[in-house]
Amino acid sequence: MRLQTKAVHTGVDKDSAFNSVITPIYQTSTFAFEDVGIHKGYDYTRTANPTRTALEENICALEGGIRARAIASGMAAIATVLHFFKSGDHILCTNDCYGGTERILRTYSELFNLQVTYVDMINLDNVRNAIQPNTKAFWIETPSNPLLNIVDIKALCELAHNHHAVAIVDNTFLSPVGQRPFELGADIIVHSTTKYLNGHSDVVGGAIVVNSAEHAERLHYLTNALGQGQSPFDSWLVLRGIKTLVPRMKMHEANALAVAKFLETHPAVKKVNYPGLENHPQYELAKKQQYSFGGMVSFEVNGGIEQANSVLHHIKIFAVAESLGGIESLIFHPQTMTHASMNPVLRDQAGVNERVIRLSVGIEDVQDLIEDLDQALKA
Ligand SMILES: Cc1ncc(COP(=O)(O)O)c(C=O)c1O
Repeated sequence: MRLQTKAVHTGVDKDSAFNSVITPIYQTSTFAFEDVGIHKGYDYTRTANPTRTALEENICALEGGIRARAIASGMAAIATVLHFFKSGDHILCTNDCYGGTERILRTYSELFNLQVTYVDMINLDNVRNAIQPNTKAFWIETPSNPLLNIVDIKALCELAHNHHAVAIVDNTFLSPVGQRPFELGADIIVHSTTKYLNGHSDVVGGAIVVNSAEHAERLHYLTNALGQGQSPFDSWLVLRGIKTLVPRMKMHEANALAVAKFLETHPAVKKVNYPGLENHPQYELAKKQQYSFGGMVSFEVNGGIEQANSVLHHIKIFAVAESLGGIESLIFHPQTMTHASMNPVLRDQAGVNERVIRLSVGIEDVQDLIEDLDQALKA
């Protein structure tokens, strides 16, 4: 099956009772045994639930892995993956990762002596120089948040494997429609399904996908042991959202490209970051490793915080809100919103300055979005 067919069909054949076309919501915490030691494959929802299994099969098929687990949030997925490692292990992390990733890495290094070095992964020499004998993982996020920098997943995976480290990719920004890290050598993929996979801004969720038997066993153990699995109802909503993932991603990309091109010509704009613009520094790499340039755009206004705030104050159709990947357009100021919890030194090094505004471009009529941005920038 091709991707779009998998998105619609995988995991839906779960209803043996009435043949419902759509996966039922098994809103139950527990399942009755048929006899001592005999059950129908499910005993307790923390361990597994049929609605969640349907979603896991679907995400697993889209990413091309061997096992997926649907988790309560993107952060819970990230925290679960960090439990693959032990005290004293070293993780190399991209320096402009999601602020919450930096926060949990900081917490785990304080609590459990997980060692972390942040590097600008665009330059592979930086990565080579930062590798230590105890480096066990590379944490890769591309395109990055909010600056849309692209790193070379294939080259980074090769480097990780040469040093017996695992390559973990946060694939939230593009979804499996826009990028499939296993094809490029990754070992573990994490998602905030809150974003494009669900796509309707009504669920907080996460996912982990692995492609080896060893990681699959560990993943199953950890999801149950930590109790991080997604609720049946939220699993059902994400599965419902995924059915339209392919057409949504096409519209997000088309609108984002039009918005980026418009912003480039605007006198109030200093710089535009969008991997689909030919002047993006990693445009060729993005074309090679991605199937889509995605729906995220960031830009710098001329001036400073006052001008950035003014855009947010005057915008009408875009909602000033955190998160991304929903059908409706969102706008926000990373320095004071998503990245507020990040270590300020790392944030500045990563280039998340006061002029940066991030857009999650939705699937509205793009002319309305452009006119809205124009009036807010003029104001
Ligand atoms: C790239 C990325 N990874 C992980 C997360 C965390 O996901 P959640 O908010 O679902 O916990 C986010 C949230 O914005 C994100 O942007």
